[in-house]
Amino acid sequence: MRISKLILVIVIFMTLATQAQTSGKAGSFEASDKTFLLNGKPFLVRAGEIHFPRIPRQYWEQRIQMCKAMGMNTICIYLFWNFHEQQPDQFDFTGQKDVAEFVRLIQKNGMYCIVRPGPYACAEWDMGGLPWWLLKKNDLQVRTLNDSYFMERSIKYLKQVGKQLAPYQIQNGGNIIMVQVENEYGVFGNDAVYMGKVRDAVRASGFDKVQLFRCDWSSNFFKYDVDGVYTALNFGAGSNIDKQFEKYKEVYPKAPLMCSEYWTGWFDYWGRAHETRSISSFIGSLKDMLDRKISFSLYMAHGGTSFGQWGGANAPPFGAMVASYDYNAPINEGGLPTDKFYAVRDLMKNYLNPGETILEPPANNPVISIPKITFNESASLFENLPKANLSESIKPMEAFNQGWGRILYRTKLPESTTSFEIKITELHDWAAVYINGKLIGNLDRRKDENTIKIPPVKKGDVLDILVDALGRVNYGKTIIDRKGITEKVEMLVGSNSTNLTNWEVYNFPVDYNFQKSLKFKSQKANGPAWYKASFELKATGDTYIDMSTWGRGMVWVNGYNLGRYWKIGPQQTLYMPGCWLKKGKNEIIILDFETPVSPQTEGVTTPVLDKIVIDESLLHRKKGETLDLSAETPSDEGLFSSVQGWKEVIFKKEFEGQYFCLEALDSQNPKDQSSSIAELELIGTDGLPVNRSKWKIVYADSEEVSVGNYSAEKIFDQQESTFWSTAWTVSKTSHPHQLVVDLGENIKIKGFKYLPRTDKSTNGNVKTYRFFIKQNPFSIKK
Ligand code: GLA
Ligand code: CA
Repeated sequence: MRISKLILVIVIFMTLATQAQTSGKAGSFEASDKTFLLNGKPFLVRAGEIHFPRIPRQYWEQRIQMCKAMGMNTICIYLFWNFHEQQPDQFDFTGQKDVAEFVRLIQKNGMYCIVRPGPYACAEWDMGGLPWWLLKKNDLQVRTLNDSYFMERSIKYLKQVGKQLAPYQIQNGGNIIMVQVENEYGVFGNDAVYMGKVRDAVRASGFDKVQLFRCDWSSNFFKYDVDGVYTALNFGAGSNIDKQFEKYKEVYPKAPLMCSEYWTGWFDYWGRAHETRSISSFIGSLKDMLDRKISFSLYMAHGGTSFGQWGGANAPPFGAMVASYDYNAPINEGGLPTDKFYAVRDLMKNYLNPGETILEPPANNPVISIPKITFNESASLFENLPKANLSESIKPMEAFNQGWGRILYRTKLPESTTSFEIKITELHDWAAVYINGKLIGNLDRRKDENTIKIPPVKKGDVLDILVDALGRVNYGKTIIDRKGITEKVEMLVGSNSTNLTNWEVYNFPVDYNFQKSLKFKSQKANGPAWYKASFELKATGDTYIDMSTWGRGMVWVNGYNLGRYWKIGPQQTLYMPGCWLKKGKNEIIILDFETPVSPQTEGVTTPVLDKIVIDESLLHRKKGETLDLSAETPSDEGLFSSVQGWKEVIFKKEFEGQYFCLEALDSQNPKDQSSSIAELELIGTDGLPVNRSKWKIVYADSEEVSVGNYSAEKIFDQQESTFWSTAWTVSKTSHPHQLVVDLGENIKIKGFKYLPRTDKSTNGNVKTYRFFIKQNPFSIKK
């Protein structure tokens, strides 16, 4: 009795304490007639987006102040559900996860806040913020009313967010001016009823007064509408602003205009060229928005880092995010100002409100280098197997209650006197295959590798498949992305296939406690192993751990998981925040899949984010190759108009095939010798776009990958702001330009759709085209 009374008193006290912190005067904010109104007066939202999970807590305020010094008046944030509910019903909003504290810091610095709680967020974050444990339900569907479990868990989570943040709505005296419902739902679906349910859940969680909004693209926002929810648009650096809002103004003639994500840069994948967006194109469209009094949020003002296992992935084509989320943003990964930062700051000086001044940026955090650290201790993975789980059939890691990390599948093989193949369906995402402990080879999902050749074996020889999971898909229809091996492993001997069963399964989670518990020995390891060392520091500061001499794996320093690394690049260093280092002795543990020649590393003062180790698969044309179309008859040919936006071509008859080639013979501007394409769709006989999940680029005559990533896959990455372009820096080429795609299966089509690049430039916009589709591969001369 006594105790419960005491608890009651504490609860009342805590509630009062929270209210006390929001004791600012109640205000108002709303989307009104062609303008936002803040406390009844017109207000231009100048927001910078930053993600508190991607910034060490000790640096939160410095990053907020950096945004303010860039001329922003608002901070926009996401919450990632899977960050706060790592196991069902175990919610955590403390320490690094204390979002309420983050919002209070924003208010303390005199800024407003826009909150984007999800439940789905995207953001290049594991599964777009959805918790992996949802995947334990075999027939899980997400972002739909068709799955009541998904809806029920989403609503439960939103309630917890409301508990944390509803007290900070501006109407309660806080600084939260808007709350977002879902995220870019238009690229996923158009079910207004589902969106209505999410809106209701957001309201019911306590956000009962604040202005709600949703964000979508200019090409899809009109596919549905949600009552009582303001609509904002997302687009990237260099966009044509009038074009972006053209249709919007027709649909919502009275709404204020806002770009809720103005992409300042872009994210990077392992094995693909580093992305950049030029200052001039970025500043140009930002100025256009300011001139038109259009509200905006810079995505990202500061990207930060996807520490630990939190980076996501995209598919098709499968590509996993690097650990750095620098994003080529104005404030770099370490929180330092870049040239882009000063360009924004200088621009904003001309657009301040009367009496408003722009603050000086806060002091930079100190940066240090760390001299060579040599690793003398190691723990071999095969000598550190945890207790095995036994499983008749193969199952993904979620089925073993493992969220992230590595998983080893082991079984005994029947005899085979001839060599044979092991086929994995599906491998998520990278594997090392061993027979009796000897490495046979690696398989990589990025390259669609799923089969490996094995020499003859005796009955009882041991097959080990060690799988490393990269980030879960965070975007689009392929978001159900279980890790490990999802379906089956077959032994293919000649035309015989046997499904392998009776597995011993070993789980290697990412938690520091697990890494710490391993048995390290003073020895050199062979094969996958953890390496441990300590280093002394006299002073702490931010540094970048150089991983360029290692293979692939993960790094923990003083118990903090810094993230994944992979020698293929483009990221070669891992951000090590100084606030996680100590004066005196520090500990570093590295898990590596390969055997480093000399296991050592050092801390350097500048990040390396753009060093690709050239990998043949990066370009879709090998040296000396040319496409031979001389024997082919086009299925269709014609001219595209110069008008921007999607263009649709319907053929005179239907065609069937597995391979198609689009050839550009010239550009809209006759002097322009380049070609570019933002997105390409094929139209099925039902009039709908065909599924692109099996598409592979077979050939692209030229790709620009030096100053950014304009590779051919950009035509089907489901992003309208990214595009394929023929090279324009290191080499220049001339028409005709060709792209060949393998559809993965034979299909019937009646036309295709082409989206030219959506930024202001019209370089490469195709005019005359030829389209070929056929059942057999095209001839490529070597
Ligand atoms: C979309 C999403 C964001 C992010 C960006 C790309 O706009 O809404 O979460 O994924 O794309 O960085
Ligand atoms: Ca694209």
